[in-house]
Amino acid sequence: MKKTKVAILISGRGSNMQAIVKACKDSDFPAEVVLVLSNKSEAEGLKFAQEKNIKTAFVNHKEFFSREDFDKKVSEEIEKSGAEIICLAGFMRLLSPWFVQRWFDKLINIHPSLLPEFKGADAVGDAIKAGAKKSGCTVHFVREEMDSGPIILQAEVEIAEVDDKEILAAKILKEEHRIYSEALKIICGRLG
Ligand code: GRF
Repeated sequence: MKKTKVAILISGRGSNMQAIVKACKDSDFPAEVVLVLSNKSEAEGLKFAQEKNIKTAFVNHKEFFSREDFDKKVSEEIEKSGAEIICLAGFMRLLSPWFVQRWFDKLINIHPSLLPEFKGADAVGDAIKAGAKKSGCTVHFVREEMDSGPIILQAEVEIAEVDDKEILAAKILKEEHRIYSEALKIICGRLG
């Protein structure tokens, strides 16, 4: 079976990346991870990828004059790896319009809310503050505007009155790990 080559961009823990790597171990799964790239050398996820013998790269955003220069270097590394699809998984850099266009419809992200609700960096905290009764997570194609773009999959979770940010984040993360690889499977199916 044809396996679509995937690059995963992280900045930290990388638990979504790990879930995708695990899903890819299944011989019936239509993707393989060919690169894990981070803008932070100390990202925990890099160690995991190295242990699994997955190619890793570190591109330090502080070494580049502009956002686009950084993005061009990241793109070069991705091209070198042969990846056809990019998954953002806790990658804490806003990507330039140039990068979004270069990888248009090949670039996906996971966000911890039911978009378009609770966009932004503290989606879980914002759901709690708003007194929402449910939230969840969304896998979507990346567009220039942050946390926008066509939705591929969503999963909903109930918010109990006793839930604090930590509890809700854990409930959502469990669903993230499930739907990110599901969404990837859908995309690979469309690519053929
Ligand atoms: C996740 O909550 C994801 O929704 C958000 O960043 C977090 C990354 O977590 N975009 P991890 O690094 O995958 O563990």
